[in-house]
Amino acid sequence: MTSIDAQRLKTDLINLGNIGRRPSGGLGRTSFSAEDAAARQWYFDRCAEAGLEVTVDGIGNLIVSSPVADELTDPTRPAVWSGSHIDTVPDGGAFDGALGSIAALECLRRIHEEGMALARPVRCIVYADEEGNYAHLFGSRAITRGFPRSELEALTGRDGDRFVDTFTAAGGDVDRAANTVLPEGTIDSSVELHIEQGPTLEARGIDIGVVTGIVAVGGGTITLRGRSDHAGTTPMNARKDAGVAAGALLASLPDVAAGISERAVITSGIVTFAPGGANVIPQAAHVTVDFREPTAEGIAALESSLIARAKEIAAEYGLDVDIDFEQSVPPAPLDEQVQSIITAAAEERGLSQVPIHSGAGHDSQNIATVAPTGMIFVPSIGGRSHCPEENTDWDDVANGGQILLDTIIGLANR
Ligand code: GLV
Ligand code: MN
Ligand code: MN
Repeated sequence: MTSIDAQRLKTDLINLGNIGRRPSGGLGRTSFSAEDAAARQWYFDRCAEAGLEVTVDGIGNLIVSSPVADELTDPTRPAVWSGSHIDTVPDGGAFDGALGSIAALECLRRIHEEGMALARPVRCIVYADEEGNYAHLFGSRAITRGFPRSELEALTGRDGDRFVDTFTAAGGDVDRAANTVLPEGTIDSSVELHIEQGPTLEARGIDIGVVTGIVAVGGGTITLRGRSDHAGTTPMNARKDAGVAAGALLASLPDVAAGISERAVITSGIVTFAPGGANVIPQAAHVTVDFREPTAEGIAALESSLIARAKEIAAEYGLDVDIDFEQSVPPAPLDEQVQSIITAAAEERGLSQVPIHSGAGHDSQNIATVAPTGMIFVPSIGGRSHCPEENTDWDDVANGGQILLDTIIGLANR
């Protein structure tokens, strides 16, 4: 049985974790930013150093192959894909996405170094904008469904920048990005390693989570529109204050979620008031919402309920409301055969494993719509993620990398 180089995996994770570090201690590698570009260049260099070849697709996903392994198989056959993302949320941690991206690289390096003859080619992938600054799970969504140019032109990031401008400044070609879709039969199967980002594995003392399915994810912006007026001279009962209405909407989010199911969650991570003066009653409040539920019916009900609540609140405060939601990413059951291969690999390596559902979104949920897909989770210390404290024990990192390699080989020789 081939082993990964756990020390090399650790060193790479530490080094990537130093790119885009902020004074707060968290990472800031927003997709297509200078920090993201530096991380991508670092990844590119690791591939080149190992003798691997990288291609960049139209939307900015990196696709890595081994010329040695490809020589020993039929490279035109559908490939086994493995990878994750290296962009981060603002003030994110060093493991979310980075682990799966570097571990996939480590697996391909080992296949390459061993000159392993496999029945299918293996590709290591780094998906662009997984964290959805422009659209949820953007890179994988683009290649599985395609974004027409008009949709790309409408996308904006959290800083108000247009995707097409930032992408072009980062060296992208919008004509090529539009309608970038994977040719049918590109992927045979896919497996992604990720940190759990929740408390279950650590609390139960389990080494490996075999992911059974991924939550549905919806989101967008609710804009409440009132009227700007003077903060000192306008009586409290004569206002159309979008800020106060936004506060009421935020306070009602736990009730909206609870009205759907115990597993429904809603988060508002960004609220901005316009025009934005301390002594001006806000004319508009832009409230982002990210909402999730494990089932297709649940996510649809959650979306409707949120829209209804926003309209009720707007009516109560005498305001107008605009809803601008992305099309939700549906829930993704993961492939049972891939789950069995992961489970068998964990058993063979003497690691404890448990089936687990993912409450975080992952590119694998888009890839699952075109090929049998699985995910491997390793414990997150304290269940923390999307924060600078995000951490995973190095033994768990090594376990995850090893089970990833065993699973990739199992899929490639199936
Ligand atoms: C990705 O981390 C997500 O779940 O939004
Ligand atoms: Mn992630
Ligand atoms: Mn994330």
